[in-house]
Amino acid sequence: MAANADNKPRVFSGIQPTGRKTLGNYSGGFRQYAQTQETHDAFFCIVDLHSITVEYDPAELRDSTLDVAAMLFATGLDSERSTVFCQSHVTAHAEAAWLLSAVASYGQLGRMTQFKEKSDRHEFVSAGLFTYPVLMAGDILLYQTDLVPIGDDQRQHLELARDIAERFNYRYGETFRLPDGKFPEVGGRVMDLQDPTSKMSTTLSSEQGAVYLTDTPDTIRKKFKSAVTDSGREVRYDPKEKPGVSNLLEIMNVATGEPIDALEQSFDGAGYGQFKEAVGEAVVTLLAPIQERFEALRGDERELQRLLAVGAEKARRASEPTLEAMYERMGFVNAGPGRLFGAARPRGL
Ligand code: TYM
Repeated sequence: MAANADNKPRVFSGIQPTGRKTLGNYSGGFRQYAQTQETHDAFFCIVDLHSITVEYDPAELRDSTLDVAAMLFATGLDSERSTVFCQSHVTAHAEAAWLLSAVASYGQLGRMTQFKEKSDRHEFVSAGLFTYPVLMAGDILLYQTDLVPIGDDQRQHLELARDIAERFNYRYGETFRLPDGKFPEVGGRVMDLQDPTSKMSTTLSSEQGAVYLTDTPDTIRKKFKSAVTDSGREVRYDPKEKPGVSNLLEIMNVATGEPIDALEQSFDGAGYGQFKEAVGEAVVTLLAPIQERFEALRGDERELQRLLAVGAEKARRASEPTLEAMYERMGFVNAGPGRLFGAARPRGL
């Protein structure tokens, strides 16, 4: 169905370059990116334009953008197969967001859970925080994306992107492909170790509640040792009754690939102490080679910037036909004799 060079369906996802990335980001993000690049024509975007919608430090943005780039490659993306790039390097993203804001409804944006949560927590609520999901819709739709690997917390934003695409197609003619989400079967919502009823989050979790991908082995062991468990002694998967233990079982599955029921059996009668220690050790083992690759890649900023420049060029070429089609269908006069609308058709149209 997809009409690109390799005839593979297209995958697109984005990740923010804010804060230190967590085990939750690994589960819903990084590991799914590496898996999908095997079967798809893959685009992964460091969404720096999204990161300015809440208070941030400009001096840190640059460093954390390169951190995320290095982490994307360290967790398995191959620069030959996947297009990895910065959102701000491809101006189509900001343009698409503006055009799509004409078909996004104010009411629907106000109902976004993430907006409500974040706006409750900040004194200054930027207009960008409100229109954030429109920028995200543009990211996805510009690439005629088939599949979007994400964690559960992005489900509502993806639904909105589909609604926006449908409304645009209805008003202006068939322009966008409708993307599907890809969510992990286990680990779609990794929870905070100290408060297993809340999501493990880069910005909202406490230092002890979140496991960062760059934490040292000892820190990781300590965090799991002090993880909140539930009453009783049984290692049993039951997210309602036993949110703490269930979260740890999911994390163990993410780290080792062992099915949950096999894990329940092998920790039958073991007690929480031994179980938590084992989960910590599994995460240390998972992250050790990733951290080693991360250090090596992060040490060579010039190479990272070169890879991002190559990615941006590919992303510009891939997104331009769709942006042109959007302008044309919305009735804009084209920019001059050198610029023909529709000179290249969006893929699949
Ligand atoms: P971001 O940067 O917050 O997170 C990146 C990815 O990590 C997933 N994730 C989790 N998965 C499981 N458990 C958790 N506790 C957890 N925390 C985070 C997120 O679901 C995400 O997949 N709005 C997006 C970025 C974005 C995007 C896009 C994504 C912008 N444009 C286009 C997909 C397509 C975000 O803030 O992700």
